[in-house]
Amino acid sequence: MMMVKKSALFFLVFLVYSVFPNVMGDLSVGFYNSTCPQAESIIRQVVQTRMKSNPFTTAGLLRMHFHDCFVRGCDASILIDSTKNKPSEKTTGPNLSFHVLIIITVATRDAVSLSGGPNYVVPTGRRDGLLSNPNDVNLPGPSSSIQGALQAFTAKGLTLNEMVTLLGAHTVGVSHCAFFQDRLFDFEATGLPDPPMDAGLLAKMQGLCGNVSRPLNSDPTAFLDQNTSFAFDNQFYNQILLKKGVLQINQELVSDSSTNGVVSGFASNGMRFIQSFADAMVRMGSIDVLVGNAGEIRKNCRVFNGVTGRKGKKNPRGGF
Ligand code: HEM
Ligand SMILES: *[C@@H]1O[C@H](CO)[C@@H](O)[C@H](O)[C@H]1NC(C)=O
Ligand SMILES: *[C@@H]1O[C@H](CO)[C@@H](O)[C@H](O)[C@H]1NC(C)=O
Ligand SMILES: *[C@@H]1O[C@H](CO)[C@@H](O)[C@H](O)[C@H]1NC(C)=O
Ligand SMILES: *[C@@H]1O[C@H](CO)[C@@H](O)[C@H](O)[C@H]1NC(C)=O
Repeated sequence: MMMVKKSALFFLVFLVYSVFPNVMGDLSVGFYNSTCPQAESIIRQVVQTRMKSNPFTTAGLLRMHFHDCFVRGCDASILIDSTKNKPSEKTTGPNLSFHVLIIITVATRDAVSLSGGPNYVVPTGRRDGLLSNPNDVNLPGPSSSIQGALQAFTAKGLTLNEMVTLLGAHTVGVSHCAFFQDRLFDFEATGLPDPPMDAGLLAKMQGLCGNVSRPLNSDPTAFLDQNTSFAFDNQFYNQILLKKGVLQINQELVSDSSTNGVVSGFASNGMRFIQSFADAMVRMGSIDVLVGNAGEIRKNCRVFNGVTGRKGKKNPRGGF
C-alpha cells in the first residue's frame, strides 16, 4: 500500500507481540497507568535492544508513523493492512488499532529520544475522535512544491511551521535514488541538474545512482542527512543551507521564502528544533485518532505476567 521499510513493519509486529502477546486473539489488554504501569518501559527496552542491531530503526518507525497518520488518521491501519496473518474481523476494529497505535507512537518517541532527539510525553489516554474529514489525502511526493505539500499538512490540521519541523525527521534515514534521480542529470527537461545542489553532493549522487549510459539494476540509497546520518539533531537544516539536500522538497525548504526563516532558525538553534519537533510529533500523533468507548478495555494487563521484575529476561509467553 505504501512505501514503508518492510523491516519497520516486521519490527512493529514483533513489538506488539512482545508487549501484548495475546493481543490478536483476545482483546483484553489494558493500557493504563494503573493496570499496565510497565508498558512504556518495556516498549523502550525492546526499542533499545532493536536499535543496537539495526541503526535504521528510528528512521523506519518515524516514516511509518508519518504515513499512518496521513493516510487515514493515526489508527495503525498501516500495520494492520500489512500483516501477513490477517487478523480476524473482530480484531481489525478500533480496539486493536488503539493498542497498536499507542505502541507505534511510544516506540517512535523512544527511538527518536534514543537517537539524541527529544523525549516528549505521548498522550496514551483515550482521546475523542478529533476530525470529521475522513477523506484520504494523498501523501506529498519528493518533488512536491512547498505549497503543494502544505496543502496535505493543512488538510490534517498542521501548520507550515509544523511541516518544516516534521521534515526535520529527515535528519535520519535514507532515500532510494528513484526519489531524486530526476535532479541529477536532466532536471525538468533543462538538460542540467537541479541548480541548488552542491557540486560535491551532485557528483557523489551521480556516481551512486547511475545514469542513462550506466544504468544500475538496483536502486541504491543515500543518507538524507549527509553529515550526521544516524543522529537525531538539527544537522539536516544546516545541510540544506549548504545545498546538500538530497530530496528536492528538502532543498526547497531553503529556496522558498515562506520556509527559509524557520530553516535558519532551526539550523542555528538545535534546542529550538528539538522542542518544536516534540510538540509537532504530539500534534501529528493525534490526527484523526480513533478510539472506542469506555467498555472496550478491560482492567486486566495479564500480558505482563511473568515479565515484571525480570528486565531483559525472555518473556515465557513468547515476548522479547
Ligand atoms: C512533504 C512531506 C514528505 C515527503 C515528500 C517525504 C518524502 C520522503 C521520501 C521520498 C523518502 C525516501 C523513501 C525511500 O527511499 O524509501 C523519505 C524518507 C523518510 N521520511 Fe519523509 N517525507 C515527508 C515527510 C516526512 C515526515 C513528516 C516524517 C516524519 C515525521 C518523515 C520521515 C522520514 C524518514 C525518517 C525517512 C527515512 C526512512 C528510512 O530510512 O527508512 N518524512 N521521505
Ligand atoms: C500516568 O503517569 C504519568 C507519570 O506518572 C502522569 O504524568 C500521567 O498523568 C498519568 N496518566 C494517567 C491517565 O493517569
Ligand atoms: C472491542 O472490545 C469490546 C470489549 O472487549 C467489544 O465488545 C467490542 O465489540 C470490540 N469492538 C470491535 C470493533 O472489535
Ligand atoms: C554516466 O556515468 C559514467 C560513470 O560514472 C560516466 O563516465 C558518464 O560520463 C556518465 N554519463 C552521463 C551522461 O553523465
Ligand atoms: C557536521 O555536524 C557536526 C556536529 O553537529 C558539526 O560540528 C559540523 O560542523 C558538521 N559538518 C559539516 C561539514 O556540516
